[in-house]
Amino acid sequence: MDINFRQGNPLEITSDCLIVGIFEGEEFSSDLLNEANQAFDNSLEDLNSQGELVGKTGNSTLIHTLGKSSPIRLLFVGLGKRDAMTEKAVTEVLGASFRKARSIGASIVAIAVDTFCTEEIKAERIVELVTLSAINGLYRYEDHISEKSDKAISEVLIIMEIPAEVNVSSYTAIADAINLARDLANAPANHMTPTILAGVAEREAQENNLGFELIDEDKMKEFGMGSLLGVAQGSIEPAYMIVMKYEGDKDNPNDSIALIGKGITFDSGGLSLKPPIGMTTMKGDMAGGAAVIGALTAIAKLNLNINVYGIVAATENMPGGQAQRPGDVVTAMNGTTIEVLNTDAEGRLVLADALCYANHLGVNKIVDVATLTGAIRTALGDEIIGAFGNNDELIQNVIDAGSKEGERLWELPADESFAKNFKSDVADIKNVAGAAGGATIGAMVIGKFAEDTPWVHLDIAAVSRTNSVNGNNVKGATGTPVKTLVSLCRSLAK
Ligand code: BES
Ligand code: MN
Ligand code: ZN
Repeated sequence: MDINFRQGNPLEITSDCLIVGIFEGEEFSSDLLNEANQAFDNSLEDLNSQGELVGKTGNSTLIHTLGKSSPIRLLFVGLGKRDAMTEKAVTEVLGASFRKARSIGASIVAIAVDTFCTEEIKAERIVELVTLSAINGLYRYEDHISEKSDKAISEVLIIMEIPAEVNVSSYTAIADAINLARDLANAPANHMTPTILAGVAEREAQENNLGFELIDEDKMKEFGMGSLLGVAQGSIEPAYMIVMKYEGDKDNPNDSIALIGKGITFDSGGLSLKPPIGMTTMKGDMAGGAAVIGALTAIAKLNLNINVYGIVAATENMPGGQAQRPGDVVTAMNGTTIEVLNTDAEGRLVLADALCYANHLGVNKIVDVATLTGAIRTALGDEIIGAFGNNDELIQNVIDAGSKEGERLWELPADESFAKNFKSDVADIKNVAGAAGGATIGAMVIGKFAEDTPWVHLDIAAVSRTNSVNGNNVKGATGTPVKTLVSLCRSLAK
């Protein structure tokens, strides 16, 4: 799909469908609507008086122009009250509009940008949101469907009457990164093993000029990554620690951030086996790793002045004959011993060694992203990311970075008062500690391995997939929090 700019009157530019925004209560105050109304001998006003073509949120009216204007169809979409319009609301309208245009077979879809602008949300931002909606709102995962959809939008025309210098390429990079992360997390586990995930990361590293290194199980043994290896030993699939490196600030090689992703390509629970229903979505237990890989591609394309490592601890969590047993004690790379009382709390185990490795690389900041706990959904619902950390400034930076891009985060405690809960009788710590504050307990186990490095943990277990179609999300993986990670690196870059 191409995204191109046109300047001029949207009613005079040829397209299969022109999307026009209308605000509630001011339907006929825009030039565009008045001109269209005239072309149709004032019949649009009649429609309006019958309750169609109104600016109420969620309203949409499709009109076939039958030769009366250059677009073959006009899709009028309600934006609600002008003062109340938010970026979230625009995104919901845009995503739905693009999908509607595609469903009626439109190939060239135009959008009258000026009809969406308010005092608060200016044309430049609308163009960015249009770019995201065109790429992410139209996303489909059809890799394993024999009869692929035949309807597709080939070109989006961004029409503005007054030319604005807008560079969409950074938002196409971000939107593509989100779709990449979705592809990885939507892929069935037999099509997305640690080996395949590592292969995709290597391809993306090559295409984006990133450094790339794979730590295989032999090297993990040399590093003493017993915690990651303990999870991996139940599977016949080899595990990998995937390391990507973007060097955008070559003058300050000692200044870097690590983005670390949980990369469990399938989480059966291990010997602490999950019930069947809980396993059905566990191909997506590498969504954190997928977001990290996606974010690194966008960061590279944006050419940010910052050094970023992307580290993904990739393995299956399986109950094979070699699987670790509840009660086993493993030793992580920093020497900490962990009693594995529940093999289904494996995310913190693989992340432990990933954080140790980041510290071994000498990074100054760590942000880990993981589908870590079911408890986070109980705490925050399914739209908000749980944020934990050991450094108030970095936590705030991450939360702000997300909210700028419409990804909501909420801080939960990683308070030392919880530490007594995971004291073990036989090792330094245990990997689980009862049901209370489950998301915090998981976060704090990971935090042990951050040591003194400023660290933030994002629990995305509730937001990484969705069952509904809304805004730029469709059923399946959401690609969250690619936008937060890229936005964070943008804000930290010099
Ligand atoms: N991958 C799961 C968490 C999860 C649950 C992600 C639901 C997405 C949807 C994680 O490995 C897990 O199993 N966590 C356990 C931890 C418990 C054993 C302490 C959980 O949340 O039940
Ligand atoms: Mn698990
Ligand atoms: Zn898991």
